Amino acid sequence: MIPPMTFKEMVLQGIPKLLPNKKSRDDKYSHAPKRKDILTSTEKKLAIANALRYFPASWHAVLIEEFVEELKLYGRIYMYRFMPDYEMYARPIHEYPAQSKQAAAIMLMIQNNLDPAVAQHPQELITYGGNGAVFQNWAQYLLTMKYLAQITDTQTLHMYSGHPMGIFPSSIEAPRVVVTNGMMIPNYSKPEDWERYNAMGVTQYGQMTAGSYMYIGPQGIVHGTTITVMNAFRKKLGAGVSPNGRIFLTAGLGGMSGAQPKAGNIAGCITVCAEVNASAAIKRFEQGWVDKLTHNLDELIDIVKEAVSNKEVVSIAYVGNVIDVWERFDTENIIVDLGSDQTSLHNPWAGGYYPVGLSFEASNDMMANHPEQFKEVVQASLRRHADAINKHTSKGTYFFDYGNAFLLEASRANADVMHDNHIDFKYPSYVQDILGPMCFDYGFGPFRWVCTSGSHEDLKRTDQIAATVLESMLANAPASIAQQLQDNITWIKEAEKNKLVVGSKARILYADAEGRAKIAAAFNEAIGDGTITAPVVIGRDHHDVSGTDSPYRETSNIYDGSKYTADMSIHNVIGDSFRGATWVSIHNGGGVGWGEVSNGGFGLVLDGSASSKAKLESMLFYDVNNGIARRAWARNTGSLEAIEREMKRSPNLIVTMPNLVDEKLLHHIQ
Ligand SMILES: NC(=O)c1ccc[n+]([C@@H]2O[C@H](COP(=O)([O-])OP(=O)(O)OC[C@H]3O[C@@H](n4cnc5c(N)ncnc54)[C@H](O)[C@@H]3O)[C@@H](O)[C@H]2O)c1
Repeated sequence: MIPPMTFKEMVLQGIPKLLPNKKSRDDKYSHAPKRKDILTSTEKKLAIANALRYFPASWHAVLIEEFVEELKLYGRIYMYRFMPDYEMYARPIHEYPAQSKQAAAIMLMIQNNLDPAVAQHPQELITYGGNGAVFQNWAQYLLTMKYLAQITDTQTLHMYSGHPMGIFPSSIEAPRVVVTNGMMIPNYSKPEDWERYNAMGVTQYGQMTAGSYMYIGPQGIVHGTTITVMNAFRKKLGAGVSPNGRIFLTAGLGGMSGAQPKAGNIAGCITVCAEVNASAAIKRFEQGWVDKLTHNLDELIDIVKEAVSNKEVVSIAYVGNVIDVWERFDTENIIVDLGSDQTSLHNPWAGGYYPVGLSFEASNDMMANHPEQFKEVVQASLRRHADAINKHTSKGTYFFDYGNAFLLEASRANADVMHDNHIDFKYPSYVQDILGPMCFDYGFGPFRWVCTSGSHEDLKRTDQIAATVLESMLANAPASIAQQLQDNITWIKEAEKNKLVVGSKARILYADAEGRAKIAAAFNEAIGDGTITAPVVIGRDHHDVSGTDSPYRETSNIYDGSKYTADMSIHNVIGDSFRGATWVSIHNGGGVGWGEVSNGGFGLVLDGSASSKAKLESMLFYDVNNGIARRAWARNTGSLEAIEREMKRSPNLIVTMPNLVDEKLLHHIQ
């Protein structure tokens, strides 16, 4: 009998030598929705031919029927037959077959993005966000893993939207992998184009950290939401005032929105989170991400009144429509300090937003069977939603849009959300008011790392190192960034207790250029002396200072007219690639829709060497300061201060600074 192949052997063979048995998808996993049937019959032939080119001609007669069926049933060809037989998860780095440690680390990161415990639709190779793909099909996965096992430290693998175009000779200084996702000629970048070209198998939507192998599960979103809620309370209450017993009212306990109650608990307030879908609310309750759950509005009122009078820190899920809560809190005169909304209004007509007065089931029925009527009901609901929020803001609630298109859709429904100038919204977005001016403009953004040993002890050591570095920086920090440093010291010290790890042994915190480089250098030293037992991958979310040009989100607080340009993200990816990144990626679409954003990121493998040290110093410096320079040129106050400080610290940095114009000089211009 032939012994079964080992994991290493299966990786090394890539596409198997013998046609594997047909596999069907497994019902125990969540699956991507059926995509639109958008291709003409000529395009369908092309899609099938495109899929077959991964396989020997002798298999085509068998595979053709299968791929036609997948295209018909799911709108895409995933090639389920080629799903690997081994378990999918981030293994310790030494378990990967590889010529290059850097390549082995990338394999680990890829497997983490596809781990069923981490990924949203693992068998469709989707990590998060409904369509955030790592690969378009399983042939691309198998080939890429094989190439990564083969590649040496003087070659580079080029990835075109999940497709491994090939390994090209390069140099030891070059990235091991260069990734592009969804890059289109601008005129072909409408959502319909994504449906068409993705169905043909020639492009994919990489979201931000899905197609760039840098997703670390829900931890990233918990941290970002915590920072947002903490700083929003500071804006409302003033620095140093405790949010204990103060109310944060919001909606949504889904993918990202489910982080709100956990973040509210860490920030120290009372979080009231409405969710119409009972199973989503119960799931979060059972996971321990929300403390209390009620289906009854009267009971909610009692719990909240008691929590306020006891100045509690508690999170409460209400199974029902958020508008009912806003309205009832108004009549009960319950003061809401902070308000937001994370219903999925980027997708208002197909289940992202449930209108008030209709049950969850009745809404689902109407959207499928009477879509025009459903649209009218949603718009009427949005007008009522905005009216209820307006009553609270007139009593002092600080309301912000959470990047979910609430204000955009409410304005399209003619809800009362416009500023008197009829151009702007009357409420800010979370980036305009909070993350932009308080974090990104100073260089603070979502730095993250993964311990490739897979060891919990290594992760604890990195937590301690990061806390020590930030504490030493706090001792001499200017007042403008001291609070950010303190928040992240608190976060990292409590990270272990908050049990945030899902998948690889990863951690996130916000740090500026100096902090990121100092933490990475300290990790590198600890790897060198053996205190940390294996390489550490550093990286970041694309939702950051420099990596993303997105006019309604990351760059929404750029006010010099340049927010519709994408130069910053493109410079970032090119600049990082020759300063030492182990891999770089640049994507069209991510967070917000296809065609609406250009975003990129990197991964850098620290192995304890002097070369790693030089790379991290050069690359992290540029990776953050590129964005600060651009934000300073746009005259953002925090960035003007931050880049001046950086130029004093780093004499080799010379940034073009704006001359500020007296507004009065402009008044007479018609
Ligand atoms: N968390 C963040 O940092 C962040 C950042 C940017 C954008 N967003 C946006 O937030 C939105 C939510 O993301 P998600 O991944 O959680 O989506 P999701 O669809 O998984 O969750 C949204 C939830 O809202 C519920 N809901 C809809 N209408 C409701 C209503 N009227 N009352 C109560 N509950 C209602 C839905 O049942 C659903 O469970 C998206 O638009 C996303 O782009 C979040």
